[in-house]
Amino acid sequence: MAAKESPKTVHQLFLSCASGVERLLDEEVRLILPKTHIEVLRGGIALKSDLEGVMKLNLECRLAQRVMIELTSGGYRHEDDIYALARTIDWTEWITPAETIRVDTVARHSPLRSLNFATLRVKDAICDVLRDATGERPSVDTRFPDLPIILHLSELDATLYVDTSGEPLFKRGWREDKGDAPLKETLAAAMLAAAGWKGTPETGGALHDPCCGSGTIAVEAAQIACGMAAGMQRRFAFERQLPFVPLRGRWQAIKQAAKDREHAPAVPIFCSDVAFRMVDFARRNAERAGVAQYIQFNGGDALERPAPELPEGMPGTIMMNPPYGERIEVRGKAGVSQYMSRDAGGSEARDAGDDFFPRLASHWKRAYTHNPAGWTAWLLCPDMKLPQQMRLKESRRFPMWNGPIECRMFRFDLVAGSARKPRGSEEQHSGDDAQ
Ligand SMILES: C[S@@+](CC[C@H](N)C(=O)[O-])C[C@H]1O[C@@H](n2cnc3c(N)ncnc32)[C@H](O)[C@@H]1O
Repeated sequence: MAAKESPKTVHQLFLSCASGVERLLDEEVRLILPKTHIEVLRGGIALKSDLEGVMKLNLECRLAQRVMIELTSGGYRHEDDIYALARTIDWTEWITPAETIRVDTVARHSPLRSLNFATLRVKDAICDVLRDATGERPSVDTRFPDLPIILHLSELDATLYVDTSGEPLFKRGWREDKGDAPLKETLAAAMLAAAGWKGTPETGGALHDPCCGSGTIAVEAAQIACGMAAGMQRRFAFERQLPFVPLRGRWQAIKQAAKDREHAPAVPIFCSDVAFRMVDFARRNAERAGVAQYIQFNGGDALERPAPELPEGMPGTIMMNPPYGERIEVRGKAGVSQYMSRDAGGSEARDAGDDFFPRLASHWKRAYTHNPAGWTAWLLCPDMKLPQQMRLKESRRFPMWNGPIECRMFRFDLVAGSARKPRGSEEQHSGDDAQ
């Protein structure tokens, strides 16, 4: 890293993302930094850019978890090799001893016995370099370090990165009210990207999340529809790192240009939840995100609410991660209380919620097939047999991970008469699962 050179110096970057999202992130970054050569890897993408590009990526990326600058890489067999590698970096170019550091180690097939010791050796090297140069050493801050460092260990190679994001990028700064199982903002954005939803009548039209919880999908969608940058409401670690100090004016200009680009959405956005407390959470989050005025919030059971009224000729997209499994119980018509009253005294109690998905499908067939421009529904769910449960034929399925849980995004085309004939079912995406 030669940060004291020109701010135009080009660096090797790695942008990490959830597995399954790499190709979508590649597409997103092509729009943020056109003409950049990108390598799609497992768990992220690699590219070269200058520091201005680093700032833009942090501000604009909806799908990346972190933007990291690679400092150095080399073979290792022992923790001492890692210390030696970390000592080759001139850390005075990144921080003064008044700033704080934190080192994290990520390993795959590393032969080392203690990753903690490897972490410690990197920290020692940074402190030794700074003490030799200035007589003082920086301290460690595990919560909000000025310089977060990531050591990546493969079987043979060690690579050191500076994390320019700090808090992971899914923390956009607006979600303070959370429900039981909130989606990560990056995953909500990945669902929208996988569906090709871009907030225009031509790219999916109106958006509706009928089980909105804290409103993550609706807020991400509204920000996309308004052309808002994902990171406008948060700070980034790079703002405190020395190489970026001469670029502070440029950073303000980049943010201002992003602000100037914002506009009113061209499509309506709706969200609802059977729990009024959740609708309240969603509204408050949307207010903090600056998009509450563009979302219509409602309480109500997804099995009963009529389809939202759309402008003539406008198609609609339902996008949801429904209640599923033990943590998130179904409420409302197919929920616990319903079954408790029906089964009181009876011995053939079924699981509450068993009926939710078939009923949802019937409701959609009744209420969502009258729009001449059509509705398309996307559901994120860990149950690979969801289409059978709903007695609907999916027109696409897209693999996606919700943290450690392997899921599928299923697409159902809700057309008049039957939902069994999918529109555009011949279309395939590179991320499609062929199962
Ligand atoms: C997995 S959570 C959704 C989380 C949301 N995507 C977020 O990021 O916060 C499922 C939501 O479905 C809601 N829900 C459960 N049964 C429902 C029903 N019958 N109709 C509408 N919403 C329901 C729950 O209140 C919960 O907020």
